[in-house]
Amino acid sequence: MQTSTAILEAFYQAAGQFVRADDLGRQLKLPTTAVTTEIAELEKLGYTIESHPHFGYRLLGIPDRLTADDIKARLKTKLIGSEILVFEETASTNDVVEHLAKSGAGEGLVVFAESQTRGRGRRGRAWASPRGKGLWFSVLLRPPLPPSAASRITVAASVAVTRAIREVCRVDARIKWPNDVIIGDKKLGGILTELRVEADEILMAILGVGIDVNCEQDDFLNDLAQVATSLKLETGSAQDRVALAARVLMALNEYYQLALTDFEAVADEWAKLCTTLGRQIVVTLGQRRIEGFAQALDSDGALLVRCDSGQMERILGGDLVVERA
Ligand code: BTN
Repeated sequence: MQTSTAILEAFYQAAGQFVRADDLGRQLKLPTTAVTTEIAELEKLGYTIESHPHFGYRLLGIPDRLTADDIKARLKTKLIGSEILVFEETASTNDVVEHLAKSGAGEGLVVFAESQTRGRGRRGRAWASPRGKGLWFSVLLRPPLPPSAASRITVAASVAVTRAIREVCRVDARIKWPNDVIIGDKKLGGILTELRVEADEILMAILGVGIDVNCEQDDFLNDLAQVATSLKLETGSAQDRVALAARVLMALNEYYQLALTDFEAVADEWAKLCTTLGRQIVVTLGQRRIEGFAQALDSDGALLVRCDSGQMERILGGDLVVERA
């Protein structure tokens, strides 16, 4: 573990209390001077750290900046977040993860970007990713599932992201099928899962997550203005992106593993958070239009719709849903 990660971890464990440099040094098996040098480096990065001649140091404030060290300092996961990279700017974090996966990166790698120049959403749409205002990241997964069950990953991710947002920001975030995170009738985040498949095997799943954290109204241009929102707009105050990032990764770690072992438990959680189930809906699938009652998720994560004709339709992700009043 990096010294800066270990020091930040000690500050977070101390929860606002003082920690002494010599105690930290003993704990980290480092000379006290190495600890004080690292604390000075953290201050240069924008951390507000109070020092006291007897009590030591305490953390008073953190910069609004994603760093791998800080996210790792708050994580207690083994798989997701085993490696974290943060870029100032990328085209799409999904592409960076794919590239790194091809060069041998392991499952659990997470790539964040402070901004994306070519962020993409489902169905070929562009995804606006303004600098420093959101969480734009992708996770490399190698799920031992057949491609037909890949929707389980997206379902688990939407539960994880929604739960983490609810816990950290205390808002009534919910899921709109297939994988929009919403508040009221406005979209707050989305998930784009891209697969690389060979024969009947998933070689890799790249889970891309976008959350509008501190976006302002004027970050949502044109069509987005009426349908998008951010956690800042909903709560009236800027949210701590690092804390949210860490909580989302912890929840992803939990729900991903649950999706592999007990998908029914994930589907139950999803049903509690989803606004689509139990409603009359209209799904457009290219030229096709399916109308009916959204009944349940099946064991692969597909939505079961009882059509007005009485027939059951099984719909996998990637489709657009309009809820009928
Ligand atoms: C959606 O259409 O709702 C899915 C949006 C997914 C956006 C995220 S941002 C990080 C990752 N990189 C991308 O290019 N897209 C995903």
